Amino acid sequence: MPVFVDCDPGIDDAFALAYLAAQPNVEVVGVGTVFGNTTVTATTDNALRLVELFGLDGVAVAMGASRPFVQPPRLGQRVHGGNGLGGVELAAPTGGTIAESAAELLVRLARSAPGELDVLAVGPLTNLALALGLEPELPTLVRHLVIMGGAVRVPGNIAPHAESNIYNDPEAAEIVLGAGFNATLVALDVTMRTLARKPWLEKLAALDNERAQVCSRFLEHYVEWYASIFGERVCAMHDPLAAAILVDPSLVTESVDVAVRVELRGEHTRGATVADLRVSRDFSDERPQLNLPGEVASEEFLQRMLAAMR
Ligand code: BDR
Ligand code: CA
Repeated sequence: MPVFVDCDPGIDDAFALAYLAAQPNVEVVGVGTVFGNTTVTATTDNALRLVELFGLDGVAVAMGASRPFVQPPRLGQRVHGGNGLGGVELAAPTGGTIAESAAELLVRLARSAPGELDVLAVGPLTNLALALGLEPELPTLVRHLVIMGGAVRVPGNIAPHAESNIYNDPEAAEIVLGAGFNATLVALDVTMRTLARKPWLEKLAALDNERAQVCSRFLEHYVEWYASIFGERVCAMHDPLAAAILVDPSLVTESVDVAVRVELRGEHTRGATVADLRVSRDFSDERPQLNLPGEVASEEFLQRMLAAMR
């Protein structure tokens, strides 16, 4: 399956790329970068280094948006470190970016194989909104879009009501979530219940290969941050969970199809993802629906992530 990855690497973005690179039935055909966990210059540099680390040499990497549509960027360097990879310095890349932007690359790949391309979006949704501006038929060209973003039935992370990827460009997210993609929204609802804990972290650290060792080092900073919040050495595997669901949707054990809107004006709720989950929901709502997982096979995913790193 051909997959385009739009990302802001980012420690968990790196794990998503590692996961996809290890799947025999996945061909990563392009990587777009976006601001988010750090600047787009740094996320692009990281993407170039990561594709080489994970054996994806030659995959087109295209730089995307450096800022959201409306608000100033708010970078996630506290969580991911100044360089976005927990301060771990990878070997300088031998390749560079292509001349197209991330949005242009996505549109070209989608047009070249209508109905075949899967898209994993694990950063702010700016590039996808820009791609919709270039090609309004994108939702019919893309087979399946899996987004890591949102907090529907649970608290946010970057703000009380908002998850980071959505909060970082709410206008873009509102466009993408309403565009009519065959989409799955992997929100904090499930990612915050899929935590890597001490035994898993130890198993990763014990794997005897360079990629696993480097990824284990990425986690040192990430886990420190989680420990400062949760008082426990754990970390959330947001982006690789979304990648795994893209590869195998049967990891979702309970979900609902529902329209999801992004709050754009709330004084305290800007960036919140609002879904009508009432039993008496408004069925005349013409807004396209997304699939919203409520339960996932977390343990199975964590085992598969370890297998991929192995
Ligand atoms: C999301 O925000 C970023 O910090 C992570 O890489 C992930 O995509 C989690 O809210
Ligand atoms: Ca990310």
